[in-house]
Parts: sequence; C-alpha cells; structure tokens
Amino acid sequence: RGSFEEGLADCPGFSHEGNFINGFYESHPIQYGESAYGFAKNSHTMLNIANAKKIKLIIDGEELSLARGKLNNYSRVLDFKSATLTRSFEYTTPNGKSVRVNIRRLVSLTEKHIAAIRYEVTPLDFSGKIEFVTSIDGNVKNLSAGDDPRVGSGLQGRVLSIEEKVIVGNSLALRQKTKTTGFSVACAACHKLNANNYAASTEDSELELAIKYDIDAREGESIVLEKYIAYITYKDCEESRLLEASLKLAAEAQMKGFDHYFEEQKKYMDQFWYRADIEIDGNAALQQGIRFNLFHLLQSTGKDGSTNIAAKGLTGEGYEGHYFWDTEIFVLPFFLYCFPDISRKLLEYRYSILDAARQRARELSHPKGALYPWRTIGGEECSAYFPAGTAQYHINADIAYAIQKYMESTNDYDFLLNYGAEILFETARLWADLGEYIESKGNRFCINTVTGPDEYTAIVNNNCYTNMMAANNMSYAYKVSLLLKDNYPEHYRRISEKIGLEENEPEIWNEAAQRIYIPYHEDKKLYMQDDSFLDKKPWDFENTPIEKYPLLLNFHPLVIYRHQVCKQADLVLALFLLGNRFTDEEKRINYDYYEKITTHDSSLSPCIFSVMASEIGYHQKAYDYFMKTARTDLDDLHGNTANGVHSANMAGAWMCIINGFAGLRAFDGTLQFNPYLPSDWEKYHFKVYHNSCLIDVTVNKEGIRYELLEGDEISIYHKGSNVTLRKGNPVNFN
Ligand code: BGC
Repeated sequence: RGSFEEGLADCPGFSHEGNFINGFYESHPIQYGESAYGFAKNSHTMLNIANAKKIKLIIDGEELSLARGKLNNYSRVLDFKSATLTRSFEYTTPNGKSVRVNIRRLVSLTEKHIAAIRYEVTPLDFSGKIEFVTSIDGNVKNLSAGDDPRVGSGLQGRVLSIEEKVIVGNSLALRQKTKTTGFSVACAACHKLNANNYAASTEDSELELAIKYDIDAREGESIVLEKYIAYITYKDCEESRLLEASLKLAAEAQMKGFDHYFEEQKKYMDQFWYRADIEIDGNAALQQGIRFNLFHLLQSTGKDGSTNIAAKGLTGEGYEGHYFWDTEIFVLPFFLYCFPDISRKLLEYRYSILDAARQRARELSHPKGALYPWRTIGGEECSAYFPAGTAQYHINADIAYAIQKYMESTNDYDFLLNYGAEILFETARLWADLGEYIESKGNRFCINTVTGPDEYTAIVNNNCYTNMMAANNMSYAYKVSLLLKDNYPEHYRRISEKIGLEENEPEIWNEAAQRIYIPYHEDKKLYMQDDSFLDKKPWDFENTPIEKYPLLLNFHPLVIYRHQVCKQADLVLALFLLGNRFTDEEKRINYDYYEKITTHDSSLSPCIFSVMASEIGYHQKAYDYFMKTARTDLDDLHGNTANGVHSANMAGAWMCIINGFAGLRAFDGTLQFNPYLPSDWEKYHFKVYHNSCLIDVTVNKEGIRYELLEGDEISIYHKGSNVTLRKGNPVNFN
C-alpha cells in the first residue's frame, strides 16, 4: 500500500499499513452459526506480510511525524510513466530544525522479488545529528471482518510466525510462515548509505529487525539512504534456503543500484503505455483517471499462471484478496486486446485450479464436470454465503466465454490443446448434469436453483443470463470437441481418457445448448431475468432515501430478494456479451426496463450500462455512467477505497471507451467498430491488438482514422461495412 515510510502511527484513522504478495494466503475455517452439508469449509485470506518499507527519520533528536512539526511544499506523486512513487517536502521540527526530504520508491515490474527506496534528506538550517532507523517489521496482522461483508477477514491477531531472522552487515532478513497452508516468505533489506560521517548499530527485537544510522550531518549537504528489498516465497525456493535467497537477491539489487531499476521500470512502462494508453483530449481529469486505472490493473495482475487478479488488486484487504468472475468478464478483455500473453496467464490460473473445481462439483453431487469456486485464492470455494456465492454457477460459463474470446483473438492452439479444451469440456459437462428438460417449459433445457450476476436476486430458476451463457459454453465446447477430433485426434484421445469423456457427451452438450430455455415475455418483448422475476413487486425507490444505499447494508437479503431490484447488470450484461443474439429493438426495450430497477450498488454495474447505452444511442447516459467509473478510486466515490481499489470497475472504464464509445465487438473473431466522439471531447486515441495485428484508432471531430501498426493486413468492420487495413495505408472516415 502507498503508506508512508515513517508509518501511520501518528495518523489515526488515516488508513492502515499493508504489504501484500499476490497468491500468498492463509486458510482458516469459516465459522457458521448453523452449517450444512457442502458449505464452503475454509476461507483464504491474502496476508499482510512483513513491512520492509519502514524508515524512521530523526532530526537532531526529534522524530519526523506529519502530525507534529511543520510541512511545506508537500507533494506525493505516483508517476505512471516510471511506476515510481515520489514524496517530497520541507519539514520543520517542533524545535525549529528544518530539512528537505525526497523519497522515491518503486516495486520492480521487471524483477518480481525486488522493491527499492531512495531516501534523501538535506538539513536546511543546521548542522547536527540525523538518524535513520530502517527496519523490517514482522509485527503485522490483517484487518478483522466487521459488519460489512466486503471488508476484512475471519483472521484474528498475528497469523504469521517469525521462523528465522538475521542481521548481517548492512542487511536484515526474516522469514515468516503461515500455520495452516504452511507457506513461507522471506524478506530481506540491504542498505547503502551515502554520508560522510556515521556510525551504525542494530536492533533485534522479537518481531522487528532494524539498523540505526547515526549521521553527523552538515547544513546543505544531502544524505542518501538506499534500501533494497527482496521478498521471496516457497514457490520460488526451498524453505531451508529462503532466508539466504532473500539476502542474496537484496544484495544483488543493491549492486545494480536504484537508477538501474528506475531505468528498467521506465522501459517496461514505455512498452506498456505504447499499447495500453488511451489518450483523451478535452478532459485532463478523466485522462488521469483512466491511466490510474490501467496502471493498477497492470501492477495487480498475476502473470505467472498460478495467480490472478483480486477484486481489490493488491491495494487492500477488502474481499480478502479473492479472485472472482471479475477477472474473466471485466479485467481480461483489457489484457486480451493489449497483452494477450497476460490474458493467457490468467486463464492458465483457472487450469491450475481445475482439480479443485472438479472436487467441488462432486461435493455438490455432480458426478461429472467441474464447478469453479465463486471466490477463492488457492482454488477452494471460499464463499461463506452460498446464495450469492456458490449458487453463482455462471462463473463456469464466464470462464468458458473468456477462453472463447481468447481463442478467437489469438488462435493459440497450444493453449487450447493443453489447457483450454479440458476446462471447456469439464464446464460443459457440469451444465449438462445440472440442467433438465422440463415438460411444462416445452421440453426445453432448464437450469434451476442458481443465482445470476445480480446479487439482489438469489436462488432462482432459469436465470436468463446463466442459461444463455451456459448454452454458449456448451455449444463452444461441442465445436472444440469436433475441431479436436478432426485435427488433433491424439489430443482428443488424451483429454478424453484423462477425464473419462464418453463418445456421446459432446452431442449431449450441443443438444442442450440448442434447446436451452429462455424466459421471454412475448407481449412485452422482455427477457425476464428469471422465471419469477416479473412476478415480484418493484422496489419502492421513491421512498428509499439515499442513506439506505447500498441496500445490502440496510435490508435483510430476503427483503431484497422479494423485490424487482438489481444490484448490477444481469440481463443487460447478456445484451452486451451475447449482443449478436438480440435485435436492436430488444436491446432498447430491455435496457430501458432493467435500468429503472438497477441500483448499481456493485461497482461492476455502471460500465456495462455505459457500454450498452452507447450501443443503443443514449450517448449522454453512456457518458454519465462512464463518469462513475473513470475516477471511482481516485475520488473515492464509494467511500471505501481504503479497503482497496475496485479492479473490475477500473477495467470497466476501459470498456466504456473501447466497447462503448468506440463500439468494439468481436463476435466470431472479427473486430467491429462503431465509434462516436463524446460531445465533451476533442479526440480520443487507442490501440487494439488482435490476431497478431496492432490497430491504431483515432476518433476526433474530423472523423475516424484506422492505421495498422503491426501485422500485414486485417479485415475489420467499420459501422457495419467491411474494411481491409494494410500496413502503411491508414484509412479515414468522416
Ligand atoms: C459483486 C460481484 C463481484 C464482487 C467482487 C460484489 O459486490 O456483486 O459481482 O464479483 O463484488 O467484486
């Protein structure tokens, strides 16, 4: 977290310390007042690990504290171009000694173990003592859950034991371990001090290790302390060698130096922004918002195939660091159309937990197939509230949908054969087992007793989104089975043997997909969110004062479930994801209906409404919803950014522009654009990577320009007409 080097002890209520590693968690039993068979047994919590950022500054006997003393020219800058956080200020102690402080720090994006801090202090009006106390603090714990289901965990107190610690020369290191998962992490810090006259001493207490530098400082002469931090876990090294490995990494980092990391970081970010940036002309605040969001997506996303992106990224403890469907439906598209390699890694993560998903399916009495957990880190279902957790079976279809989009955009057969096909078959099997042909529903394939994306409606029959997405899952799995049979028979045989796939199963999926039941009201041309949705009475919005939102914190779930009220896009999400299955008229009618009853109490909602408003031609609405996404965390619009940023919403802001204003769709693998310029803007400009081609798109008052920057040729649709783009031949439209 972006907390201060000197800590937050003097800033009560200012937020809390945190240092997190993606995928590093403790497992703990979920406490139920009343349990039942098959309830999720354990939760996983991303742990707050040893804090190595800590550096205290003591100025002629007085400790720097933002709460005492006087601050001047304070600035704190997160530079998106170098992924560096800089803090600079002048500070006068209560006794009247002034210093200038300049702190730069980064978490390396090129060497995953490394972080570095460069701390410069200059006495402005005195010569005397300056002391640095630089430490690794193992006295850390996680936030405990209160009444808000979105905050904290069931963990109490300190859960990481300190197994070993050592101080050697300018270096400190300690190793922590979890009790239940047995995960180890070592953290080392290696220092370099640039000062003329100093003495060093060490402090080794039970939970914290420190080096204290006593410096004879002179007025006007800068002192620089560099701290090179390395974290390494059991995943990358044997436990017995972890401490030593962390020390070695920190020492190597110190040899390379801060400037090296800074330069590497800049190069990395240049490459990132070259593809990912969206330039907006005409609104600097929005420009900043969108870049802030993209930066966070980059830095929080696991890129190793065994980690993913948490709902709150790596910025806070909200939702315990769990991964949800937020990944496949919200975050993954950004990576897919900018950095497909990263989106592959996100999908490989799903493969890495496929065994756990198979086991979960058995726990829910499905003899075949896999059921992905609604929320998890290590693969086990961690949702304690099954009506809005496990019951959201649609996560299976969301993952399958993401695999389909990934394949259509990359033709990565290596992925399909080694990972994707098996996931598709296992998820399709689950649907085939779950659903049934019901006579009173015209012998259509029905899916009962599930929850759709809208968490204000739970445990329903035939959630329209789920049925449509499940059908998509099954028919795509069927197509892939045919493709494999024809073109890669040995792979088909291998997978079939592994999972015991019977000859007729793909036909069964296809049949179910063809005969899926869709709840539809002919007269109203309305897709019903589920079988009983329209029978419920509408929520009394007029008499619900603003302080009663979000409803989930003010009404019992049953009260909410009894009404027509949506927390987030559900059917409207289907209109977007499966847009080629609806007529324009249906889109408008259904959008109008569901918009009126949606509270957007989930930050996953406004972006989808924005995208669909753009498509329907409600441009002002599209813009208003977009405004709710672009700066959500910068401006703390939900009042809970302290618990972590809203990752899905951050990616949603990208969707508002790319899928909304620019109208990008990719049904059946061909890109279609339908761009317009929001009236407040002069121009926007972005790039999209698809089928090994990089397309540069500019939309301004003069018109729309496409240019192919990488790849020889690609065929796209512009406002419904086919256009072939060739390298070196930009195409303009008025
Ligand atoms: C939303 C879910 C989402 C979760 C994590 C909830 O508030 O309703 O759809 O997956 O937050 O972001």
